Amino acid sequence: MATEEKSSDLEVQLEQMLGIEKFDPPPGFRENALWSDPKIYEQAAADPEAWWLRQATELLDWETEPTQGLNDSNPPFYKWFEDGRLNASANCLDRHVEAGRGDRVAYHWRGEEGEELDVTYADLHRDVQRFANALKDLGVEKGDVVGIYLPMIPEVAVSMLACARIGAIHNVVFGGFSAESVAERMDFSEAKALITVDGARRKGKTAPIKTTVDEHMGSHHALKTIVVIRKTGIECPMSEGRDVFYDEVLAAAPPECPAEPMEAEHPLFILYTSGSTAKPKGILHTTGGYMAGVTATHRYVFDLKPETDVYWCAADVGWVTGHSYIVYGPLSNGATSVMWEGAPDHPHQGIWWELIERYKATILYAAPTAIRTFIKWGADIPEKFDLSSLRLLGSVGEPINPKAWLWYHKVIGGERCPIVDTWWQTETGAIMITPLPGITETKPGSATTPFPGVAASVVGESDGEPISEGQGLLVLEKPWPSMLRGLYKEDERFIETYFSRFGKERYLVGDAARVDSDGYLWVIGRIDDVVNVSGHRLSTAEVESAIVAHEKVAEAAVIGQADEDTGQAICAFVTLRGGTEPSDELIEGIRGTVAERIGKFARPKRIIWADELPKTRSGKIMRRLLRDIAEGRALGDVTTLRDPEVMKELEAKIAEEGDED
Ligand code: WT7
Repeated sequence: MATEEKSSDLEVQLEQMLGIEKFDPPPGFRENALWSDPKIYEQAAADPEAWWLRQATELLDWETEPTQGLNDSNPPFYKWFEDGRLNASANCLDRHVEAGRGDRVAYHWRGEEGEELDVTYADLHRDVQRFANALKDLGVEKGDVVGIYLPMIPEVAVSMLACARIGAIHNVVFGGFSAESVAERMDFSEAKALITVDGARRKGKTAPIKTTVDEHMGSHHALKTIVVIRKTGIECPMSEGRDVFYDEVLAAAPPECPAEPMEAEHPLFILYTSGSTAKPKGILHTTGGYMAGVTATHRYVFDLKPETDVYWCAADVGWVTGHSYIVYGPLSNGATSVMWEGAPDHPHQGIWWELIERYKATILYAAPTAIRTFIKWGADIPEKFDLSSLRLLGSVGEPINPKAWLWYHKVIGGERCPIVDTWWQTETGAIMITPLPGITETKPGSATTPFPGVAASVVGESDGEPISEGQGLLVLEKPWPSMLRGLYKEDERFIETYFSRFGKERYLVGDAARVDSDGYLWVIGRIDDVVNVSGHRLSTAEVESAIVAHEKVAEAAVIGQADEDTGQAICAFVTLRGGTEPSDELIEGIRGTVAERIGKFARPKRIIWADELPKTRSGKIMRRLLRDIAEGRALGDVTTLRDPEVMKELEAKIAEEGDED
């Protein structure tokens, strides 16, 4: 009874807060903020190129300082800080160790079973040098691609930085992807080596990673080496001449490996992300511009004071959020972070809050999907923990609805923490649209305005003309240092995807957005066939091709459907092969195929059996109509349909589905 009363009180309070339009930085925050003068925006806008050059030289340690900012002689192949030379791992490690900060904790690591490990900058520096030497010894050279398929363990940062140290290009694959996806990504990138683990723990269970990888890697030719980190002791077959244990090569490697200065435009990593077609895009980032972008944004968006803050980005290193805001940004700034191996509900639903209390975390950066889950579990869970150390909250990955924003603000932030809702993408490398916590008045649900030095606008869909108030397509008007340099070995697709609709000087984001009368931006969602499930980007084509791999499936059309928990959920319309009857078993079979081909997170939540799919006369599936029908809306224009009867049948199917519920 008491908790019920309390939660309904909270409901009422949140309801009232919905009426508040703007939130000022909390009292006292502005006074101590790194940036508190709004003039910073004008200064940056006056000469963005010079402003970024200043950020790059002020915040990074260069072997050769760059003298120039942007080279835009061959758009859209932009270059930044071209005559500079630096090493990303030296910026993340050596400079802190050399300045006497080696004892500072880089990661308070917490394992699933409660193990604790404080990894210092000196520890990372030691292991990265040894591992870099080991990789060289294994034949990895500057410019080679190295795959990384690891859970959230400190070795994932060591692996990335060891690659960066010798100029190898890492290609991290999120641990939630299936081994088949890993094999595919290794193939696309012609990876020479793969770093993985014997097994991975998830909610008390251990999955055999190396064994599964082997099953899919057999025919892989370019892969010369697999380095296996022994973490769980689970059985782990090793192939003579190809596979080595991490601990053994580390122990055998010489301890010193000076960081090799790289040209600013030397590739740092590729990261595959979903596009409109079934084939994922290898987003390519280079060293100088990327490091400048993540270091500046991590410092100023989170108002980071490395000496006193304890920062926690609760993402996975396998996504760009982890690359930029668990590894490169925080380490470059000398921050102390929390790294959590596990799930938010293991061993209990309050584990996040337990970790914040334990490590006195001051900054939390999380996804709206997690916040919505916590709301569902109830405010009484975080209320049991001391969250008073928190002073700033961040949100990333999808639009945050005002109610979730207010809950985050009140229940987690105790109304004293500014919220930075940060909009960006794998392609942008770093945060692009965000409040500055000591300057910006925030509006729940809006990512507010571009970071200084970034130019964004909302433009008309057909004419590309900037809209001063209203809805349209989001574009970035000027090149920025941490922008993608291309799609790995797919120049044409790079131009076609981002720089064809509005020309080579404007980057097409792929999101629809609204701009309000204060010039605040409200990102609505993707305009392409990309679905955002719990902040994970998936292409409908990718899921479709996984579904049709099932032997009983003839055809499939996938759409994203609004979902209370995951933002969007996968809904699949499936046509079975002649003679096959729909069944629950078949549903599980199809979901299993998707898990195997892509990963569990891509499994369709809803499957609708369709005798036929709605198509245009030229045979294109009309997803717009499927979206209407799945969400119970009146159907839009059906005049281009080849066979209007198809929609009637589908509507009848959906009605049946409703009856069964
Ligand atoms: C897409 C990029 C940013 C790193 C994680 C996702 C959506 C991202 C926000 C936000 C509204 C957002 C966009 C974007 N998105 N952040 N704060 N508000 N939408 O990276 O997988 O490359 O996905 O995520 O639709 O285009 P990603």
